[in-house]
Amino acid sequence: MLTELHTTESEATTREAVNRAVSTLHAGEPVALPTETVYGLAADALNETAVKRVFEAKERPSFDPLIVHVPDKKSIRDVAEIPDDLDKIVTQLVETFWPGPLTIVLPKKPHIPDEVTAGLPTVGVRMSNHPIFGKVIKAFGGPLAAPSANRFGRVSPTSAAAVMDELDGRIPLVIDGGACARGIESTIVALEENEPKPLIRILRLGPVTADDLKKFGKIDKSRRNEAVEENAPEAPGMLASHYAPNTPLRMPESAAEFVPEPGKRYALLSYRGQEKDGFLDLVDWEEIAILSPGSGRLPEAGIRLYHVLRQLDQLGVDEIIAEPFPDRGVGSAILDRLKKAASIR
Ligand code: TXA
Ligand code: MG
Repeated sequence: MLTELHTTESEATTREAVNRAVSTLHAGEPVALPTETVYGLAADALNETAVKRVFEAKERPSFDPLIVHVPDKKSIRDVAEIPDDLDKIVTQLVETFWPGPLTIVLPKKPHIPDEVTAGLPTVGVRMSNHPIFGKVIKAFGGPLAAPSANRFGRVSPTSAAAVMDELDGRIPLVIDGGACARGIESTIVALEENEPKPLIRILRLGPVTADDLKKFGKIDKSRRNEAVEENAPEAPGMLASHYAPNTPLRMPESAAEFVPEPGKRYALLSYRGQEKDGFLDLVDWEEIAILSPGSGRLPEAGIRLYHVLRQLDQLGVDEIIAEPFPDRGVGSAILDRLKKAASIR
């Protein structure tokens, strides 16, 4: 299959790209679209055949459910059944964080196909704030199921070039909307009625942090996606190894823990490139990639993480060594992704 790549540099090319995306989606084909987190592979969420094409292109196992993206805030009620006792917190979260990088898991409406939710009774819903995604979904006029536009288990794409690396020849259309502003997948939460405050279970850490969420409910940091794990008993731990480059990646707890082996070539993924963090002088690094040079900003490190991992993956080194990141703010999401990338081997 020939994969077309459309740019959105001018008003005219944007109009053309949006029209092309909408007609491809209406034809039941998947389209890679930019979102503010990572690029998504979108399909008509109400068309089972279109959704199956997404799973095929990604080689994604059918037990892993897709996030449903909606065109506006009120449409959450078209795809999810909001229990009365959660109505208040859902409204608060939507008003505070949408459009944006927060996915809310709720009971699904019956017309959402099982293919989308992997047979679960719930659906993850999100509204993206990317202007191109917004234009496409509003013109399309309905919900779009969209997982990250990478092959299963690999690093999520944060640019159109990265999508091409992953899916060239497997899908008909990629819309280039530039680099993603957040660079890391959305925070996913499940909600539970609880007194005096509802429980917010963080299923996946992301740009919306536990600190951002805590005023709306009681944070449960168990961080386990039980719904998905129970759904896939034949593949326990499969979801633990994820977000991985091809090159082995390791994240030592401290610099002292890293003992280089003679003759091996290493690349360093550094937070801020400071000597005092202890890693710079450990070995003659083949490459040192610094995510946020200087005093270090975690959101900036998050934006660049996947882009830089892809670059390091091209070097052909024996191992990528990642410095430990501070477990706060977006740093917690970065740590989570690096642990998952490291656990693959
Ligand atoms: O930022 C994002 O969320 C991106 C962009 C494209 O929107 N999408 C994304 O989708 O990261 P994906 O499919 O790569 O990751 C979504 C994860 C799934 O792996 C699954 O674990 C979880 O969301 N998920 C989806 N529906 C769920 C549900 N009903 N219950 C629990 N977890 C769910
Ligand atoms: Mg993904």
